[in-house]
Amino acid sequence: MNRLTRADLDALPNYVPGRNPADLARELGLPEAIKLASNEVPYGPLPGVVDAIAGAAAGIHRYPDMGVVALRDALAERYGVTPDRIATGCGSVALTEHVTRTACLPGDEILYSWRSFEAYPIIAATTGASSIRVPNTEGHEHDLPAMAAAITPRTRVVLVCNPNNPTGTSLRRAELDEFLDAVPADVLVVIDEAYREFVTDPQVPDGLEAYGDRPNVVVLRTLSKAWGLAGLRLGFLIAQPEVAAAVRKVVTPFSTSAAAQAAGLAALRQDAEMRRRCELVIAERDRLTTAVRKIVNDVPDSQANFVWLPLGDKSVEFGQVCEAQGVIVRPFPGEGVRVTVGTPAENDAFLAAAGSALR
Ligand SMILES: Cc1ncc(COP(=O)(O)O)c(C=O)c1O
Repeated sequence: MNRLTRADLDALPNYVPGRNPADLARELGLPEAIKLASNEVPYGPLPGVVDAIAGAAAGIHRYPDMGVVALRDALAERYGVTPDRIATGCGSVALTEHVTRTACLPGDEILYSWRSFEAYPIIAATTGASSIRVPNTEGHEHDLPAMAAAITPRTRVVLVCNPNNPTGTSLRRAELDEFLDAVPADVLVVIDEAYREFVTDPQVPDGLEAYGDRPNVVVLRTLSKAWGLAGLRLGFLIAQPEVAAAVRKVVTPFSTSAAAQAAGLAALRQDAEMRRRCELVIAERDRLTTAVRKIVNDVPDSQANFVWLPLGDKSVEFGQVCEAQGVIVRPFPGEGVRVTVGTPAENDAFLAAAGSALR
C-alpha cells in the first residue's frame, strides 16, 4: 500500500493516558479502582462550575465566542495583565503546540530537558522541528547551564517545565534569571507552569510575576489541575501582545468551547476554595513524600501534585503490583513511577500497595 502518512511519525511514542479506573475495577471485581496517574485534583469540580456548564449547554447549537472575551477579561484581571496578552486553548498542551507552530519552520530546533512532559517530543515532531533534549541532572532537575549551551542559531523555542512533570523538581529564581539572560532575544522561552498553584517554595518564582515583562517569555497555565477542569480542556498563555496575537491566529477556530468558557469563569470565582483544596494536596504531598522515602531511594522534593519514584528497571513491575491492588499509577519504563497525590484514603491505599510491591 502507498504510504499516506509521514514515515517519521512511526518512531514517535504515543501519549500514554492514565488507565481508566472503571475498566480496572471491572477486571479486578472491585467496586472501584483508584487513579493516581494523571495529576488531577481528587475533590470534584469547584462549586458553581457544573451549573455554569448546564447553563452553557442550552446554547450549544451556536458556536462559542471565538474571541473568548469574557474569560480573557477575567484572566487578565486576575493576573494583572491586559487581555491582548492572553490566548486560550483546548488545554495548555494545545497551546504548547500552537506556540511552536507560530515560531518554528521545519528544521528549526525545540530545546527541552529530558525527562520532562511526554507531550513535548510529540509536539516538536508534529511541528516538523527537531527535538534537542538535554538530560536532567542527577537530582532529576533541568540542567539550565547545559540547556543554555545547547542553543544554536536554529533554536526557536525552549520549553522550561517548572515544576517539572514527571519529576516534580523545580527551578529557583537565581538559576532562572541567569538562564534567561543567556538566551538570545529571538528565541522564545515557554515556561510551562501547569502545576504553579502547588508551589510552596518561595525561591521558585512565579514565571508571570518574575519574567512576564521579558519580550521572549511565554507563561503557560492550565485549568486542568488546581482548578479541576481537566475534562473540559482549558488552558491559557500569557505573552507579549504580538506573540499572543500570533498564537490566537493559529489556534484551531472555536477550540475553547462554550462550556469551557462558562466553566472557566465560574472556576475563577472560586479562588478561596481552589486554594483550600491545593492546601490539602500539599499537606498530603508532604506526607506521601516522607512515607515513600522509607521504601524508595532518591525521591526528589516535589513542588507539584505528584511524587516521582526513581525505580529504574523496577518501574513497570511496581506499576503492575499497584494495579493488581486497584491503584493506578504512572510507570515510565526504565526510569521511574509518577504517583499523583490523591485523597488521604487513596494515598493510604497506594502506600499499602507500594509496601507490598517493594517487599
Ligand atoms: C507540564 C504539563 N504541561 C501541560 C499539561 C497539559 O495540561 P492541559 O492540556 O490539560 O491543560 C500537563 C498535563 O499533564 C503537564 O503535565
